[in-house]
Amino acid sequence: DGLAVIVVAAGSGTRLGYGMPKALVPVAGRPILEIALESVARAAPGADIIVTVPAGDSGLSDVAAAHGARPVTGGATRAQSVACGLAALGSDSRFVLVHDAARCLVPTRVTSAVVAALASGERAVVPVLPVTDTVRGVDAQGHSTGTVDRSGLRAVQTPQGFEAQLLVDVNLQAGLLERDEQGALTPVDRAEDPEGITDDASLIERFTPEVPVTFLAGDEESFKITRPFDLITARAVLEERAR
Ligand code: C5P
Repeated sequence: DGLAVIVVAAGSGTRLGYGMPKALVPVAGRPILEIALESVARAAPGADIIVTVPAGDSGLSDVAAAHGARPVTGGATRAQSVACGLAALGSDSRFVLVHDAARCLVPTRVTSAVVAALASGERAVVPVLPVTDTVRGVDAQGHSTGTVDRSGLRAVQTPQGFEAQLLVDVNLQAGLLERDEQGALTPVDRAEDPEGITDDASLIERFTPEVPVTFLAGDEESFKITRPFDLITARAVLEERAR
């Protein structure tokens, strides 16, 4: 207990091209958000689950509520949506996971391992995978600036896990959250995110560099549904699991 999970689902889904928020797009007949919430609930039964939904949305709020999660309106960027979720945290939350709804097929093992690492005292935990492609730099003219040594690189996934107070603190420091006169946490509307902040753990590295960010093994099935091709893969994974 004392565990909260923020499932960010406030993206527009433009790249998927379905004309609806990505988390509402069905995979094998069920919305991506529903599949994501079932994955989370299996690994973290009893957790307080908060779902960020697009402003004015009703469909995703209904899916969230039907699965015992609390819908809150998200922000203009992923980071701002996370801040909206943090503002809705209960005061008894000791640990918080931040998970992309779009990574709806995350295996139970991964989420459980993130929670176990937090319980054993880690303060910031990130599931990662080795990089398998050859990676090159590129200059403004589109020419190669050379190959990057991929053995020293990791691709980052979610759920990322944090000591809740730590993630709140770095969001305050980054200007993504503020306290109102009553001391309540409030998300800050802003034109863009703090520069160079592309995930939650990068806030820890920027603002509390003394806190180690711990990696553990992610999984290929935690891939982020982004483009139409990913829907084909997701359906295949679900069919394989059902066999
Ligand atoms: O766009 P992308 O798939 O990288 O977004 C990752 C996750 O962040 C998605 O689950 C998406 O719904 C969520 N998101 C959000 N609020 C935004 C943008 C994205 O909750 N403004």
